[in-house]
Amino acid sequence: MRFEQQVALVTGAASGIGRAIVQRFLADGAAVVAVDVVEAALHTLVEGLQADGAKVTGCVANVALDADVTSMLATATSTFGRLDILCNNAGIMDLMTPAADVSLELWERVMSVNLYGPFLACRQAIPIFLEQGGGNIVNTSSEAGLRGGAAGTAYTVSKHGVVGLTRSIAFHYGERGIRCNAVCPGGVATAIGIGGAAPHEAGLARVMPFVQASAPSRISQPEEIAAAIAFLASKDASNINGAILPVDGGWFAA
Ligand SMILES: NC(=O)c1ccc[n+]([C@@H]2O[C@H](COP(=O)([O-])OP(=O)(O)OC[C@H]3O[C@@H](n4cnc5c(N)ncnc54)[C@H](O)[C@@H]3O)[C@@H](O)[C@H]2O)c1
Repeated sequence: MRFEQQVALVTGAASGIGRAIVQRFLADGAAVVAVDVVEAALHTLVEGLQADGAKVTGCVANVALDADVTSMLATATSTFGRLDILCNNAGIMDLMTPAADVSLELWERVMSVNLYGPFLACRQAIPIFLEQGGGNIVNTSSEAGLRGGAAGTAYTVSKHGVVGLTRSIAFHYGERGIRCNAVCPGGVATAIGIGGAAPHEAGLARVMPFVQASAPSRISQPEEIAAAIAFLASKDASNINGAILPVDGGWFAA
């Protein structure tokens, strides 16, 4: 029960890694605000957990919209009275498109969810943390935040941006009681897919052989990413700040 009396907010909560983070924080004693843009899936998750007696509430929000970010943070403070942990986990893929073929629409869509979203949430959560005397942020970056060959250009840039956001916040606010760390999952068994539409053929043909040749054969389960996130948010990581943690079975070591 290492998060007893603490309140965690998790974005992208209705599926995959986010759902596992919600379940992990609840199991460890936190009250949780589960945030997602897909209303039906979020309600199914939250109603199921509440039926089991969990201290969880749902909030439908698009992390790319500043007003939605305001309301998701207000849900934490109005429902549970405070906010201790922010997990910026919502993210989308980019069809593996290389730079010259990235439409402005694709660039904006990916950057708005994957990078602008975490920035908006951090920007509004930090004042809450400062007023409370501290807080914790854990961002979900990616193997594509560490190397250039794991996705297309927009996704890669967005996840490298999350690494920079994480380090900058750790640097500027560490001395005022705010820790900010990131996990970089390799392949994880989730429904993330490749962005909904047909992938960029040449981009996919360039990325996939590299991934298959370099990545470990076993992909992670969402619970393994959630465990690393819970560790970084916990007192066990009390002096870990600005860390960028690969959770990839050793892929980045290769
Ligand atoms: N699955 C992988 O292999 C993998 C690898 C590295 C990093 N990641 C990262 O992990 C995070 C979670 O991905 P996942 O694999 O669990 O994917 P997923 O698709 O299973 O879950 C992502 C969730 O985010 C939600 N979401 C998308 N856009 C949103 C928005 N604008 N506002 C609020 N919610 C939104 C979706 O509805 C979905 O429920 C993402 O940031 C992703 O980039 C995943």
